[in-house]
Parts: sequence; C-alpha cells; structure tokens
Amino acid sequence: MSLEDSRWTEADVPRLDGKVALVTGANGGLGVETARVLAARGARVLMACRTVAKGEAVAEHLRQQQPDADVQVLALDLADLSSVGRCAAQVQEEVGSLDLLINNAGIMAIPRRDTADGLEMQLGTNHIGHFALTARLLPLLAPEARIVTVSSQAHRMGWMAWSDLMGQRRYDKWLSYGQSKLANLLFHFELDRRLRASGATQRAVAAHPGYAATNLQHVGPQLSGSPREAKLMRLANRYLAQSAAHGALPSLRAATDPKAQGGDYFGPDGFWEVRGWPVLVGHANRAGDVADAARLWRHSEAWTGLSLLSGAALTQTAGSSDSEDLDADDVDTDDRETEAPVAMARAATP
Ligand SMILES: NC(=O)c1ccc[n+]([C@@H]2O[C@H](COP(=O)([O-])OP(=O)(O)OC[C@H]3O[C@@H](n4cnc5c(N)ncnc54)[C@H](OP(=O)(O)O)[C@@H]3O)[C@@H](O)[C@H]2O)c1
Repeated sequence: MSLEDSRWTEADVPRLDGKVALVTGANGGLGVETARVLAARGARVLMACRTVAKGEAVAEHLRQQQPDADVQVLALDLADLSSVGRCAAQVQEEVGSLDLLINNAGIMAIPRRDTADGLEMQLGTNHIGHFALTARLLPLLAPEARIVTVSSQAHRMGWMAWSDLMGQRRYDKWLSYGQSKLANLLFHFELDRRLRASGATQRAVAAHPGYAATNLQHVGPQLSGSPREAKLMRLANRYLAQSAAHGALPSLRAATDPKAQGGDYFGPDGFWEVRGWPVLVGHANRAGDVADAARLWRHSEAWTGLSLLSGAALTQTAGSSDSEDLDADDVDTDDRETEAPVAMARAATP
C-alpha cells in the first residue's frame, strides 16, 4: 500500500513485540487510542500522563481488554520543565532504549496562563514541553526509532508572533493554539533536517488527527466558564467529528508504517482533512520555513536550557548564519545547561 492510499487501518499496524513506546497524554482522547493499539500489537507502552490517576484507570482498562497489555503510567507535566526532567530520568531507569516517542499531549484555546516556568501555557505545553522531553530522551532512542509530533490543521491559522511569542502584550486563545501547532510542525521539519545532517538513523514523522471528538474541545470552554462555547463544542463534536480511535490513525501510521520517511506528515484524506483515512498530507508554506524553524529551535533551547542536535551540523541545515536569527534581546545560549530556564525564558521573550 502506498503512502497516498486510503483505508490504512489499525489492522495495518505491524507487530511491535520487543518495542518500547512512550505516548504523552495517554490518559485521554487520541493518546488512549494510540496506547491501546500499540499495546495490542505487542509494544511495551509507557503512558506519560499529567493526571496519573486517570492514567492508572486507563491502564487498568487496557489490561482488562487485553490481558497481555504491557502498559505503565509515568507522571509527566509538560507545563513544568522539572517534571519533564523527572519523567525522562524515570524512563532512563525503566528502559534501556526507546523505539517510539509519540509527542501527543496538548491543550487548546484556553485563557492565558503561565506554565510553572513562566511560559505561555499553550506554546509551553504543546511545543516547549515536548521539545524538552525529546532533548532529554534523544540519547535513549534506538537506531530505528521514530519521534512522532502531533500537530493540527489549526497550524494553518497560526503564525509565530516573534515579538510577543508568550502573548504578554496581546493574547488570543485561538491564535495562540495555532501558533503552538505551527511550532509543532516547524519543530518536526527542523528535527528531521537535524537528524539527517547529524547522520542519525532515527526518523521524525508528524501527524494530525483531523477533527476527533475528545476532551480537547471541552477544556477551553470549562476554563473560560463559557456555557455557550461548551454547547457549540458539544454539537460540533457530535455532528462533525470522527471518533478518537479514527483520529489516532494518522499518529499510528506515522509511528509504524514501514514506508514512512523522516519529514513525512500524515492526516485524514477527507474534505479539508477533517475526517478520513490517514495519508500523506500537505501543510502551510510557513510550516516549512527553514529560517523560522531555526529561530524557534534557538528560542526553544533557551527556554528549556537544553541543547538538542545543535553543533557543527547546524550551519548546513538551518539555512542561517550563527548570528542571523535571534533578536537583539535574545539570550546567549552558550551556558544553557547551567542557566535557570525561567531566567533565560524571560530574557529570550521580548
Ligand atoms: N481532537 C482533535 O480534534 C484534535 C485536532 C487536531 C489536533 N489535535 C491534537 O491531538 C493531541 C491530543 O489531543 P486530544 O484530542 O486527544 O485531546 P484530549 O482528549 O484533551 O487529550 C489531551 C491529553 O493531553 C494531556 N495534557 C494536557 N496538558 C498536559 C500537560 N501539561 N502535561 C501532560 N499532559 C497534558 C491531557 O491530560 P489531562 O487529562 O491531565 O488534562 C490529555 O491526556 C493534541 O496535541 C491536540 O492538539 C487534536
């Protein structure tokens, strides 16, 4: 079956015996479905969850459905970089290597708030937390491992507000979500370029679920205290959305289709990619902007205090000179491993 072919289903996921997968946000929505299928195909699945009790309940349910499911819940709050560090340390203790890192967790269109590290919550959770997790887990990745980034069609409404990335001067919850999902794709393509340039054999593959009925649509209205928005979301979920199981198919294809290449991006094949079967899909031109990707990468290293695939290979891949793309008030990241992330984040954020 070619990557443009439709009707790729759960049954096309190959056996994954002996493989280890980590799925973020595995206690809800698409994460549950992704974890369920990977476990059913024989993978050991680390379910990295913010709400551990919900994760344990899901893990128990999966074990009841599939008695041989090898699932384990780990605590992970992507909105707290110290939690990301603790989770990565636990992964290191638990497993020798990782075959699939599925950066799935996310939040959408919430009122403005900060992460524990003083970063805007949507960019902080959806992109920066995953950047940090990837940086910390990279040394554990098996040679054929894949890093799957879950983005959204909402990346098309986003742009990088370089002079106000944290929405301190102006905040719109939907534009901020769009920015975070655009950041997911900029990260994905830059990760692919850097892996290739460094000679690494791991692959970066991305996916978006279209529109799937999950809790994602309810969190924003709940936090905003808006019954009208909540009702609209309920109606849209009932009449427009596909199931969470169907929405997880692009992620599963990105993670397991033997034909998938680094840099690929999967989504549903239906009208405006809202529903359908997972195939290769396109993206907004700005998601492929090499200079923006390099710029976001440098911000991300500053925000997290972590270096990820930086070094000599960069000059070949980023398409930018060392001095070109940080704003005048961006930080010097030379000592980033030892600097406090919060101070650097504030310095890096105009
Ligand atoms: N559903 C859609 O139509 C749709 C469309 C496009 C893209 N997506 C993307 O798909 C991904 C999964 O979303 P979903 O639809 O499955 O939503 P969901 O049902 O709301 O699940 C989101 C998951 O992310 C977790 N999460 C939120 N904040 C976190 C944090 N700080 N640290 C760790 N985990 C956190 C949630 O945990 P808690 O239970 O603790 O909150 C939950 O497990 C997201 O990246 C989303 O942007 C979804």
